[in-house]
Amino acid sequence: MKRVFSGIQPTGAIHLGNYLGAVKNWVAYQQDYENIFCIVNSHAITIAQNPDTLREKTYELAMILLACGIDPKKSHLFIQSEIDEHTALSWILDCNIAMGEMSRMTQFKDKSQKNPKNINVGLFNYPALMAADILLYQAELVPVGEDQKQHLELTRNVAERFNRDFGECFKIPEALIPPIGARVMGLDNPETKMSKSANGANHAIFLQDSADEIMKKFKKATTDSQGVIAFDKNRAGIYNLLGIYEAFSKKSKDEIEKHFANKGYGDLKREVAEIVIESLRPIQERIQQLKNDRSYVMDVLKDGAFRAREIAAKTYREVKDRIGLV
Ligand code: TYM
Repeated sequence: MKRVFSGIQPTGAIHLGNYLGAVKNWVAYQQDYENIFCIVNSHAITIAQNPDTLREKTYELAMILLACGIDPKKSHLFIQSEIDEHTALSWILDCNIAMGEMSRMTQFKDKSQKNPKNINVGLFNYPALMAADILLYQAELVPVGEDQKQHLELTRNVAERFNRDFGECFKIPEALIPPIGARVMGLDNPETKMSKSANGANHAIFLQDSADEIMKKFKKATTDSQGVIAFDKNRAGIYNLLGIYEAFSKKSKDEIEKHFANKGYGDLKREVAEIVIESLRPIQERIQQLKNDRSYVMDVLKDGAFRAREIAAKTYREVKDRIGLV
């Protein structure tokens, strides 16, 4: 069975982009692979975090992932900082990545523009820690949204180089980017990616938003003045709304265009909101149930870390040996 690895940061609430670009697919492929999913709290501290909030968000995210359908019988779920080998391997990779190579990462450029007062070395090295996450587990497939493509390329390059210079040690991972939902855009500004950190009350739909909030946000979504409902990449607002509808409806693009042929933007917004509300409802119900069962969530994380530690320790030992770290 091929091994899947992926991660998500416990910063802020998770939104429709995280769900459609990553988590929904983690759940969908669960039975086909051996899965390891990681809450990457060490990545989160590249942006300033309040310690108590970070701790709480970390456990909350575990609960949300379980509510989304991550099944501990099929997947291991754990917290990154519980396994010291992540940061240890990251250091070794840092010493095998050129400054120029790392400087090309567009996400560093975006994030440092958004946080000009805290451009720290960790933010710059973020992709090395991400590569360490993946390579430690010898993962073959990494389901992520489109924004992580460049980090995956870097991971593959550093792994190939390491194997060439020190002998076969890492599996070369492949990004698994979904055909639908890989890049969900902000509702207020469909030219920018939906993100946790963007300001604006109508920017993102969060998994825990109420039905009313979801309806209101979609009703205010930015569209255009053409009045035609069709999949046209040049019309970002309508394209984004149709993409969200497509991701939840299981209908083809043709069927969706026919369905909306004689309808207006108001109908489109309402129907997209309705399908999102209905699809999130069972997840929200499970979140409520799990809120009362913290010990279950903690047990899942403990078991996940136990299995993760075994795999990570084995890879790390081998890496140290290859490069002569005693
Ligand atoms: P994070 O927490 O920012 O995002 C988690 C996942 O959500 C996807 N995503 C999106 N997909 C579609 N549309 C969007 N608007 C959107 N916004 C976010 C991301 O692509 C990601 O799959 N660096 C990673 C975390 C990470 C990781 C790893 C992932 C750390 N180590 C190892 C895979 C493997 C990140 O950006 O997380």
